[in-house]
Amino acid sequence: MYSEKVMDHFQNPRNVGEIENASGTGTVGNAKCGDIMRIYLDIDENQIIQDVKFKTFGCGAAVATSSMATELVKGKSIQEAMKITNKAVMEALDGLPPVKVHCSLLAEEAIHAALWDYAQKNQIEIAGLEKPKSDISEEEEEEEY
Ligand code: FES
Repeated sequence: MYSEKVMDHFQNPRNVGEIENASGTGTVGNAKCGDIMRIYLDIDENQIIQDVKFKTFGCGAAVATSSMATELVKGKSIQEAMKITNKAVMEALDGLPPVKVHCSLLAEEAIHAALWDYAQKNQIEIAGLEKPKSDISEEEEEEEY
């Protein structure tokens, strides 16, 4: 049911933890299952994501997608990070079972929420970034798929 990459990232998740005095943090919940994810970003003065950590109180697919998402945004500029969608994360994991697709939205939304927090703190605007929702509702998922 799960690809080897999903199993690998679930069993050995990368970048688990917290960043003290993070440049931005974002927490989102999935209204469907109640699972929660928090992302911490360390962003330097050139707007490059130097470090990223996450904590997930969620299912295996949420852990694996967060782990992969943190790997994908690390070292990237904030504009590049904005382009990393849940679809890109799923592709990097060789896919997820359809019932688990909603789990991958947590990582994307949490990264956006952390970028929003960073933008607020630094009074900047990030192109394409919208105010994050604290809960991902089913309605919004259906819009995406
Ligand atoms: Fe909740 Fe996967 S079942 S995030």
